Amino acid sequence: RILILDCGSQFTQLIARRVREARVYSEIHPPTRSLAWIKEWKPTAIILSGGPSSVTDEGAPSFDPAILDVAPVLGVCYGMQWIAHVSGGEVKGGGHREYGRAEIQVKENRGLFAGFDAGERSIVWMSHGDHVEVVPKGYVLTASSDGNPVVAFRHESKPIHAVQFHAEVAHSVRGADIIQNFLFDIAGAKPDWTPGHFIEQEVAKIRELVGDAQVICGLSGGVDSSVAAALVHKAIGDQLTCIFVDTGLLRLHEREQVERTMGQHLGIKLVTVRAEDRFLTALKGLDEPEAKRKAIGHTFIDVFEDASAKEGKDAKFLVQGTLYPDVIESVSAKGGPSATIKTHHNVGGLKPDMKFQLIEPLRELFKDEVRNVGRELGLPEEMVGRHPFPGPGLAIRVLGAVDPVNVETLRRADAIYLEEIRAAGLYNEIWQAFAVFLPVRSVGVMGDGRTYEHVIALRAVTSTDGMTADWYAFPHEVLARISNRVIREVKGINRVVYDISSKPPATIEWE
Ligand code: XMP
Repeated sequence: RILILDCGSQFTQLIARRVREARVYSEIHPPTRSLAWIKEWKPTAIILSGGPSSVTDEGAPSFDPAILDVAPVLGVCYGMQWIAHVSGGEVKGGGHREYGRAEIQVKENRGLFAGFDAGERSIVWMSHGDHVEVVPKGYVLTASSDGNPVVAFRHESKPIHAVQFHAEVAHSVRGADIIQNFLFDIAGAKPDWTPGHFIEQEVAKIRELVGDAQVICGLSGGVDSSVAAALVHKAIGDQLTCIFVDTGLLRLHEREQVERTMGQHLGIKLVTVRAEDRFLTALKGLDEPEAKRKAIGHTFIDVFEDASAKEGKDAKFLVQGTLYPDVIESVSAKGGPSATIKTHHNVGGLKPDMKFQLIEPLRELFKDEVRNVGRELGLPEEMVGRHPFPGPGLAIRVLGAVDPVNVETLRRADAIYLEEIRAAGLYNEIWQAFAVFLPVRSVGVMGDGRTYEHVIALRAVTSTDGMTADWYAFPHEVLARISNRVIREVKGINRVVYDISSKPPATIEWE
């Protein structure tokens, strides 16, 4: 098993993900773990992640140098700089800052670079302000780039390896090979860990945590909360009650679909609460996206609390289908490594005085991994393969103030859009597609009359994890069909536009 010590990089979870993809078990721990704790944990190997600090900063993550002798070590970015720093190398700020794509030249075809050609040039992703100026004594340079002479090194005899670039990101073309070389050739790890093991491990954790307490889960109709519910249900059966809140902000026929799959198909105890009015009331007068998200998050919890009290169960735990990208994008600038992009309602929108303790079994996974867990748990493909849907629902797709008439207009346009995408056989090629209601009106002409009506924007993106995304290049005839139908069939809309922004700099949702 692999111990990943997190020095604060945005990419630490991607290291864990690459290790999981290689079917090796890993855990992420804070850099403050003591040497004794680490020895006791008995890692097969240790990976030191990147991070925003400079090795000489006060309070920068640091370890007892003796960890270099506990197990094979891979240092990535900051991890590499720390190894250089404590081994007598030289780390400097400025000068060779590199962000984004870089070409490296590999010096040898062994160690991390086994299977490469000596001298091979390879594209990697860099993100660093500091760099290693001088390779420490006893270490051998293994890669360099034009901008940066020391891109990778290894110890001449011990299994200590380091890279300046982020081997864990998909943009590092042979990054997965490098990580696998470390895991298998250098550390001798065994590829025997599967989604089935993830399920077993989470089931055991949940059973131990919950004991005989009652648990509720808020189902949103999306993939994440459904998989989280199915996983917890596997662990504790009827101690779990799922509460599906009809917020009035759902997609067309969503309630019926959830009732069918989760209730009838999986046999999960399911209570549907109709709370359309409460959400509308909570949203009244709000037009700022963060305010809307918070109001929805708080109303959700209120509704849960009421529903669980009414069930007479007094649940102690609340299950949420929070995923890793939700966590990283909601962590506040003061509390964590990355800036708040949006407050995902199921992460930052919770009430501070909430009485539930959270269970978030998917918190470390990415969407495609969650889908695999869902398949393993026996969820039907129509549920597992669904496009993501945000907790705040259509409220963040009716831009600005939320009016029930506009929600209904959007719902109908969205249903037509998705129907046409499915009919064209494109649903699975697209990561997420949805319509957005724009609260502006434009002039049109229908029949012989002037119209002055609202605009629907269509959004469709490709992505692997929602962290980055590109707009989907629809065949024009599909766009034409969708536009014709929406304008013809949805009252109040006389114009349809297509969103051609990638993430970044836009986000996937408009709010
Ligand atoms: P953005 O708009 O941040 O979206 O690029 C990334 C992915 O996250 C979904 N999303 C949410 N999911 N609660 C959720 O459960 C939320 O508050 C939320 N906001 C955005 C979004 O649909 C996309 O898939």
